[in-house]
Amino acid sequence: MINSHTSDIKWMKRAIYLASLGKGRTSPNPMVGAVILDKNGNLISEGFHLKSGLPHAEAMAFNNLKKDVRGGTIYVNLEPCCHQGKTPPCVDKIISFGIKKVFVSIQDPDKRVSGKGIKLLKDAGIKVHLGLCEKESRELNKSFIHRNITNSAFGVMKWAMSMDGRVGLKNGRSKWITNKDSRSLVHSLRASFDSIVIGGNTLRKDDPLLTSRGIRKPEPLRVVFTKTLDLPGKSNLWDCKLARTLVVYDASTADKKFLKRIPKGVEIEELSSDNPILLSNLLAKKGCNNVLWECGPKLATSAIKAGCIQELMTFIAPKILGGVGSMNPFSDFEFTDIDEVFNLRQSGVSFISGDIFVKSTI
Ligand SMILES: NC(=O)c1ccc[n+]([C@@H]2O[C@H](COP(=O)([O-])OP(=O)(O)OC[C@H]3O[C@@H](n4cnc5c(N)ncnc54)[C@H](OP(=O)(O)O)[C@@H]3O)[C@@H](O)[C@H]2O)c1
Ligand SMILES: [Zn+2]
Repeated sequence: MINSHTSDIKWMKRAIYLASLGKGRTSPNPMVGAVILDKNGNLISEGFHLKSGLPHAEAMAFNNLKKDVRGGTIYVNLEPCCHQGKTPPCVDKIISFGIKKVFVSIQDPDKRVSGKGIKLLKDAGIKVHLGLCEKESRELNKSFIHRNITNSAFGVMKWAMSMDGRVGLKNGRSKWITNKDSRSLVHSLRASFDSIVIGGNTLRKDDPLLTSRGIRKPEPLRVVFTKTLDLPGKSNLWDCKLARTLVVYDASTADKKFLKRIPKGVEIEELSSDNPILLSNLLAKKGCNNVLWECGPKLATSAIKAGCIQELMTFIAPKILGGVGSMNPFSDFEFTDIDEVFNLRQSGVSFISGDIFVKSTI
């Protein structure tokens, strides 16, 4: 065990910052950054994981080395891997390059690593410090951690509503409740998600594009969840030149004759029921660490009930839609006592040209 100092915190924060440069591109892998100091404490290299299939952060840092590293220190925000994946194990590199001290922020939740990487380093006589900037590292890789622990994708539900809590008029119209700047922010938010989910009815009513407008390349996977498969023959989502689209249907209720309306190029998967957790599991299996749910009230309610949602993003416009039949963000959770309702933890509030943007944890 080694103690940490202010300078160690500084270097670990640098590793976390480098890791964050991979945001939106590393899935199914985590975001990882590495900083290497020589034996005198001088910065001699750094690296980060850019994309799945490309070198890990530690490997990139060793590839960038310009000076002798023997006896040096490495700072990395996630436990170095010890398994042969698409790239060779980083633990081997750390040992063979003669590193003497390793600062690791958090253990890798991936069962193939999970403590084994740290043990191998210690067995090789390297001093290992675990837990530096743990909170920041957990926050950065919360989706990766969630997927590894639960086998489902980290879910964020996003909706736009009026001051009186309406997401649309009685006739289904909802374009546009929020202002242009809020909608631009949604495009950048989408860029940090691996997939975006809507239900069949939102596709029929809104025909959305669901892209980041080119901010993320490739665009997130666009997903339509349907019980009926009664989807239109023409839709913005069927244009797969812009982004991949996946239709997921409940095989127990869907009418497969509608499959022929879906053009070639659109991916199709079936599930045994309409339980949204099966969809979240499927997306996790496809390598999505996180999902942005942009659905209407019915699917939103089912998804929350099924435990698919970990965070909420609410855009509130200074408008009043009114109307008894106007849409709410959710349908009925069937609460009968105020003690049963969801008590959210607010994690951020900001103004966007007059709209209010609230982030909360469920
Ligand atoms: N203001 C906003 O932020 C916002 C966001 C999204 C949507 N909306 C509005 O919401 C309206 C659509 O609302 P909606 O509630 O029908 O939304 P939705 O997003 O279409 O979800 C409902 C649909 O999802 C499919 N589904 C699959 N499994 C389900 C399950 N377990 N539970 C419920 N649905 C399941 C069904 O599709 P099939 O019918 O194809 O079987 C169902 O009709 C539209 O008018 C849209 O404009 C507003
Ligand atoms: Zn590695």
